[in-house]
Amino acid sequence: MTHPVYVLNGPNLNLLGTREPEIYGRATLADIEKQVKARAKTHGLKIVFRQSNHEGEIVDWIQEARTKASGVIINPAAYSHTSLAIYDAFKALDKPIIAVHLSNPHQREHFRHRDYVTLVAKGVIVGLGPIGYVLAVDAMAELVKK
Ligand code: DQA
Repeated sequence: MTHPVYVLNGPNLNLLGTREPEIYGRATLADIEKQVKARAKTHGLKIVFRQSNHEGEIVDWIQEARTKASGVIINPAAYSHTSLAIYDAFKALDKPIIAVHLSNPHQREHFRHRDYVTLVAKGVIVGLGPIGYVLAVDAMAELVKK
């Protein structure tokens, strides 16, 4: 049986819906989880959907994915721009990785332009809001078939 796809979410994404809605929209993380799981079902994929405000916990989940996941979709949030620990954990993961950002960090502050996770991701989806997660599931379905 195919392992589930891990969908990991970084710090402050638990506040979606009320956090800077002019940037991130009104959908909550629970809304996004529902959309992701519905789309995954159409591909016959199972999803493990998690969020953490703690860098080490995300590193632990990426390590866990080495044996328990078929691929990882991640919105690392602010850790995209700072975390060598998450970058290194992904370097040790031989599975497809897709990075998603709700906003388009390239149009925002300069400090958001550096993104360590994009260096290890197979693909990156930015600026499309929650639909970006759903598109990532479609892409992941193709990648895990191979
Ligand atoms: C984000 C973009 C990051 O720069 C920011 O720190 C976030 C959310 C996004 O989804 O647009 O927390 O990852």
